[in-house]
Amino acid sequence: MGKLRIGIAGLGTVGCGTLALIERNRALIEQRTGQTLEVVAVCARDRARTRPVDLAGMRWFDDPKALAADPGVDVVCELIGGSEGPALETVREALRLGKPVVTANKAMLAHHGAELARLAEQAGVQLAWEAAVAGGIPIVKSLREGLAANRIRRVNGILNGTSNYILTSMRETGRDFETVLAEAQALGYAEADPSFDVDGIDAAHKLALLASLAFGGRPRFDAIHVEGIRHVAAIDIAFAEELGYRIKLLGTARMTPEGLEQRLHPCMVAKDAPIAQVNGVFNGVVVEGEDVDAVLHEGRGAGAGPTASAVVADLVDIARGTRVPTLGVPAERLADHPIAPMAAH
Ligand code: HSE
Repeated sequence: MGKLRIGIAGLGTVGCGTLALIERNRALIEQRTGQTLEVVAVCARDRARTRPVDLAGMRWFDDPKALAADPGVDVVCELIGGSEGPALETVREALRLGKPVVTANKAMLAHHGAELARLAEQAGVQLAWEAAVAGGIPIVKSLREGLAANRIRRVNGILNGTSNYILTSMRETGRDFETVLAEAQALGYAEADPSFDVDGIDAAHKLALLASLAFGGRPRFDAIHVEGIRHVAAIDIAFAEELGYRIKLLGTARMTPEGLEQRLHPCMVAKDAPIAQVNGVFNGVVVEGEDVDAVLHEGRGAGAGPTASAVVADLVDIARGTRVPTLGVPAERLADHPIAPMAAH
C-alpha cells in the first residue's frame, strides 16, 4: 500500500481536528484510496501548549516553511491562517517545490488565489481548499465539479457560522451580542480575530471565492460591499420576528449586465424561506444554475469536526490522484470581470 506523508502547519482547532480524524478513520481512508495517510511532521507557534492529540513520532518544526521543505513531506496542510506572512510563504514554498497543498485559508485565497492557482498549475500539483468555505459543506466541489455543466445565475447564502450562531442565539434566548460571541469563541467557531466574523470580512472572503468559482473570474474581495452584524440589536431581531422575518447575514454574488455584483450584509428574510431555517453554526448556500435550478447546501460551517472533514476529503482527493484547476478554470483563463455599481438596498 502506498503512503502519503503529510506535514501539518498549524495545530489549532482545525489542525488538531485533522490529526484526530486521520487517526480515527485510517482504515476507511485506506480502503477508499489504497493509500495510508501518515502525518509525519507538524508545526505550530507554541510547542509547550497542551493539545488533545498525540504527536509522538512526528517531526516538530518551529518554522512552517522548513516543514514545507522537508524532503520527507509529500503534501503540506496549511492551517495557520492569515492572508499574508507565514501561511502565504509556506504555501508558495510548497508549490515551488512541486508539493500539493491543502489549505483552509480563505483570507489568503481571497487575496492571492489567482497567483497561487497559477503556481500550483505550473507545478502540476493540486492546491485544494474545500475547508476554506462553509466548513463541512462540500460547496467548493459542488460548484467546481458537481455543477460544472451549468451557467450559474446566482450564489446566495449564510457563510459565517459564528455570526449565524450569534443572530440565532440572540433571537432564541434574548441574550446580548457580547455574551453569545464569547460562547462562539469558546466553542472554537470564531476566527483568531473575531471582528472578521462579526464585521462580515470572513464571509466576504468566502463569497469572493465562491463568485470566482461560479463566474470564472479571479477573486475580487476588494469589490465586495461588506457590512457585518455588530449593529444588529436585540430589538431589531424582535421587530423582524414580529413582522414575519429573520435577520440573516447573507452574501450574494451574481452577474448583472453591468458586471459582477457581490454584496454581504444583514438581510430580512421571510421566516418560511429555506435560508431562514438555517440556524446556529450552520451555513446555507443556494446555488442557482440555468439547468439545475436552485440547489440548497446546508451544514455545519465551522468547528473542528466539520472543517477537518473538508481538509481530509482534500487529502483523499490527492491520495487518489485527482487534479482539477484550483479556481475551476485554468489560472491563465480566469476572467477579469467588470464590477457592477452597487444597487441601493
Ligand atoms: N469563523 C468561521 C465561521 C470559521 O464562524 O464561519 C469557518 O470559516
